[in-house]
Parts: sequence; structure tokens; C-alpha cells
Amino acid sequence: MRIVVGVGGGIAAYKACSLVRKFTETGHHVRVIPTESALQFVGKATFEALSGNPVQTGVFADVPEVPHVRIGQEADLVVIAPATADLMARAASGRADDLLTATLLTARCPVLFAPAMHTEMWEHPATVANVATLRAHGSTVMEPASGRLTGADTGPGRLPEPEEIFALASLLLERADALPRDLEGRRVVVSAGGTREPLDPVRFLGNRSSGKQGYAMARVAAQRGAQVTLIAGNTIGLEPPAAVEVVHVTTAEQMGTAVDKHSAGADAVIMAAAVADFRPVNVAAAKIKKGAHEPNSIELTKNRDILAGLVQARRDGQLGGLAIVGFAAETGDEHGDVLTHARAKLARKGCDLLVVNAVGEGKAFEVDNNDGWLLGADGTEQSLDHGSKALLASRVLDALGPLLR
Ligand code: CTP
Repeated sequence: MRIVVGVGGGIAAYKACSLVRKFTETGHHVRVIPTESALQFVGKATFEALSGNPVQTGVFADVPEVPHVRIGQEADLVVIAPATADLMARAASGRADDLLTATLLTARCPVLFAPAMHTEMWEHPATVANVATLRAHGSTVMEPASGRLTGADTGPGRLPEPEEIFALASLLLERADALPRDLEGRRVVVSAGGTREPLDPVRFLGNRSSGKQGYAMARVAAQRGAQVTLIAGNTIGLEPPAAVEVVHVTTAEQMGTAVDKHSAGADAVIMAAAVADFRPVNVAAAKIKKGAHEPNSIELTKNRDILAGLVQARRDGQLGGLAIVGFAAETGDEHGDVLTHARAKLARKGCDLLVVNAVGEGKAFEVDNNDGWLLGADGTEQSLDHGSKALLASRVLDALGPLLR
């Protein structure tokens, strides 16, 4: 695919280098178009070397090639990172005073803005209006991350990490469409990752869930406008998604407590976590040693089912019209195939939607891509095409939207 990476003049311009790299490493043709002020932060030679293509900022280089029209027309995706307040203002008002803004005017492909600026600038009514205009024009403007800005100050306005921009960009290529802002004003709780049930201070019973699918659910929901709380079990190495509140837990019991707390007043709960069904009855206070008191078995007790608890609480009228989404990881066995087990699970659990993944060697767990089926309590069944975990998340949210009260 032909990707244009537009770079605005902000300190986060250095992160555009990693983004360009990600696109070239995944086989895309990349053309970098910085603004003149972006080159104050990162040299032209860096972008030329990383992209393998010439870099220019103005419309008067290479004139016979008509680059100010052609680059935009031929692009499959334009990503602006960092998108500064000034660059978004110029783009929103349709200016074409450099190669990048001219390209934005001629592009008919998906356009993704990854903003980066100080909190005051992000929250200024002028920027708020420009972001709304860009979205109304069909562009996807990401929610920035919160955290350390250029100086000692913190707040929303940090450029989302290159991995996250890349994930969203890939999603736009897969969807071939802008991300809808259909979850604005909604509160969504997502659980992710595997829980760990301790045996002693160094050992635990765990599972292979990496948390990637749950993180993708949280990330895409936040970028569709939802206020998202992510209850994360074991998710080593995953970057917290931009504009998402992350609550870290370890055990199934802690996850249950956190989900209960945050689901009060929420519009939807998405249980993507792999919650341990059992935990050891006894947790040794000191490390279990070889020798005289070697255990030869582990006695287990059942954990409560968090999802079933939510469904019950809703039946009891405690959770209003909360929409509830469950996940099922199935292998199929002599009693039935994956879908037979999944249909039974949907009926047993009583949630509104069940996302079904077939698991096994190299499938669903730990990998970056996924596929499966989406079963609705109303009997609808939809297959979820193979693609990134963000794409699967997006399809689930497409189905969840109409179920929100
Ligand atoms: N789940 C939960 N609490 C548990 C176990 C599971 O909330 N103690 C949720 C998971 O987050 C997931 C769904 O239930 O959304 C299905 O999980 P799964 O382990 O596949 O279902 P189980 O009911 O445990 O069925 P199985 O007998 O297949 O393990």
C-alpha cells in the first residue's frame, strides 16, 4: 500500500521515525512529507533514509511531476503524526500552503491524525472546533494519550505511541473507512489478560492469555469516543492504550471486585479477560520447598463467574440497561465443535454478545491476528474475518452500538 506519513512541527516528530519504520518493515511504500517546521526537529536525511524516498516540504520541487496533486491522489492512507494544533487548523480550513496540506486536500483515502500538543492547546475551543471539522470531513482524529509532555507538565496531549498509531492506521486500511465516533458519551468497561492465582510468593496458576485482544477492544472503543476503563490482568509488555484508564489486578477475585466497582453506571462491559475458574485453596506464605513437606497435589476451589454475576445483577435490576459481552475460547471436542460449545455457553452465560475464538497452536492466544464468530442473544451469528485484533474489536463494537440503551 502507498502510505503518506505527514509530520508536523512538534517535539514528538522524532516518534514519526519509528512509525515510518513500522510501515516500511511491513512492506508498505512510504512517502514522508514533513512541514518546514518539522525539519527543525528531525532532519530530511533521516526521513529519506527511513522511507527510501525523497522528502520535500514545498510545492515547487519536482514541478513536472505535479507532486502536490499526485501524492495525495495515489495514497491509500495518509497518517499525520504528530498533528500539531497549527497543522490541524490549516487542514481544517482547507489551506494548501505547503506540500502536506495540498496532499490532504487531494487525498480521497482514509486520513488519520495523531495529535500532539500541550493540554491547553488541545482543550482550546479553536482546536476542539478544528478537530470536529476534520472529523466531519471524514478524517479520523485520534484521542491523544495522557502523560508527560515536553516539559515537566502532564495531561492529555501526548502523541500516542507509534505502535498504537500503527494499529489504528492498519485498522483504517482494513476497514477502508473512518472510525465512527458512535461511542461518544458512553462508559465502557473492558477486562483483558489472564488472571494469576498464587500458590506461594513465587508461583501461580495462570493461562496463556496475552491481553492483546482486550487491549485492542479498549483502544478501539476509546478511539470511537467512549470513556473506557480497562481492568488488566497479566498483560506483560503491552503499552496502555491512549485515553484509557487502566486498573491493574492479579487474581480473579481482584478482577471481580474491580469489574463490579466500575460497571456501576457503565453502558457496556466487555469481558475479554481469561479469568481462572479455580484457585488454590491454600496459598503458602513462604516458598514451597523440596524436602520433608513436599505437596503432591494442589487442592482447588472454584472462583465466581464474573460475567454470570453481571448478568444476574442486571436481571435483579441493579445495572440498568448494561450491555454485556463475553468471550469464549474453545477447542471443540468429542461432544461437539467450537460453535456447538459456544452456542451452549451463550445460553448458559446469558450475555448479549459472545465473541468466539477457536484456540489451539498459534491461534488467538499471544498472536497479533484473530478471527472467529460473533453470536448474539437474539440468535444472530456472524463470522468475524481474519485480521488484526483491532479489526475484530471494531466489528464487535459495530454490533454492540445498537444494543446500547
Ligand atoms: N469468565 C468470568 N469469570 C470466570 C470465568 C470466565 O467472567 N470465573 C468470563 C470470561 O471473561 C469470558 C467468558 O466468561 O468472557 C467465558 O469464559 P470461559 O472460560 O470460556 O467460560 P467458562 O464459563 O469458564 O467455560 P469453560 O467450561 O469452557 O471453561
